[in-house]
Amino acid sequence: MVKVVVCGAAGGIGQPLSLLLKQSDLITDLALYDVVNAPGVAADLSHINTKSRVTGHGKDDMDAALKDAHTVVIPAGVPRKPGMTRDDLFKINAGIIAGLAEGVAKNCPGAFVLVISNPVNSTVPIVAEVLKKHGVFNPKKVFGISTLDVVRSSRFVSEVNPSVDPKSTRVTVIGGHSGVTIVPILSKIPGFVEGLTKEQLDALTYRIQYGGDEVVKAKDGAGSATLSMAYAGARFALTLLEATVTGKTGLVESSYVNLDADKESTATFKAKHGLDYFALDVEFGKEGVKNILPLPQVSAYEQTLLDAAYPELKTNITKGASFVTGA
Ligand code: NAD
Ligand code: LMR
Repeated sequence: MVKVVVCGAAGGIGQPLSLLLKQSDLITDLALYDVVNAPGVAADLSHINTKSRVTGHGKDDMDAALKDAHTVVIPAGVPRKPGMTRDDLFKINAGIIAGLAEGVAKNCPGAFVLVISNPVNSTVPIVAEVLKKHGVFNPKKVFGISTLDVVRSSRFVSEVNPSVDPKSTRVTVIGGHSGVTIVPILSKIPGFVEGLTKEQLDALTYRIQYGGDEVVKAKDGAGSATLSMAYAGARFALTLLEATVTGKTGLVESSYVNLDADKESTATFKAKHGLDYFALDVEFGKEGVKNILPLPQVSAYEQTLLDAAYPELKTNITKGASFVTGA
C-alpha cells in the first residue's frame, strides 16, 4: 500500500494538488482530509479512472485519514491577503500544523511529511519539534516545499532570456521560503548573468524573492498562489515517491530541510551559521534525503543575498521551534 494523505485537501491548493496526485499510478490510496468539504472533493475525484482509491475525511476523522500513511502533504491553513507577510500567518497556522503533526506522530510516525503551509521557515521546525517530542523525528523524512521558488525562477529566467527553456532549466534556489531568505543562484546558469545589466539582475532577483506577493496582489484578497503551488507540490511529491517507492536514483529537488538529514555534508555550514534548517538541493533515496548537496559556489552578489538571509532564517526557525518547546 502506498497511501498519500493531503491535509487541507478541500482548499485552494489542496483540490488541484489532489487532482494531480490522482493521476499517479504510484499511489494506491489517496486520503483527503479537511475540516470542511473533504467528502465532497473525494467523491468527485474518486470517479477518475486511475488506480488509487480515494477516501474523504472530515473534521473528526483525522486519525483514519492519517493511519499508516506513506506520505503526508500539508497545505492546511490560512493564506495571505495583500499587506501581510508570511510570518503574519504564524498566529493561526502554527497551531494547525502542530495539531496535524500530532496526528502524524500517532498514526503514521514513519511517514514522509511535506509541509506547504506558511510560514514554511517556521512550520517545518514546528513539525520536527512535535515529532521529536514523540520520539519519532527522522530528519530525512520531513521536507519544507520550496519548489515554487524553483518553478518561478525557471519561468522568470526564460522571460528575461527567451532562449532559455523554462521546462528543462533548473535554477538552484537556496535559503528559505520568504522574501530575503529566498536566494536564487542565477550564476549557476551558464552564461546567463553575464548577459544581464545590474538593473536586470536586481529586478529578476527581486521578482523571484517576492513572486508570492505578485499573486497575492493580483488575487486582491482572495488568497495566494494555488494552481502554481499545486503544480510545484505535485512535482515534489511525485519525485519523492519515485525515489522512495520505485527506488529510482539521481532525483534532485530543492527543499527546506533539517540539516541533520545529512550531517556529513552540512556540519561545517551548520556550525558556521548556527542554522538547523536551510533549503538546499537534496538528492532523494529510499529513506527520503539521501544526500544534501553542498552549498553551491556563489558570486559576490549572491553572497550579499545570503548574508541578508541568515539572520531572518534564524529568527523564523527559533520562533517555530519555541512554539512547541516553549524554550
Ligand atoms: P485555503 O484557505 O484555500 O485552503 C486551506 C485549507 O486548509 C482549507 O480548505 C481549510 O478548511 C483547511 N484547513 C484549515 N485548518 C485545517 C486543519 N486543522 N486540518 C485540515 N485542514 C484544515 O488556502 P490555500 O491557498 O490552499 O493555502 C494553504 C497554505 O499554503 C497557506 O498557509 C499558504 O500560505 C500556503 N502556501 C504555501 C506555498 C509554498 O510555496 N510553500 C505556496 C502557496 C501557499
Ligand atoms: C508563494 O510563494 O506564493 C506562497 O508562499 C504564498 C504566499 O503567501 O506568497
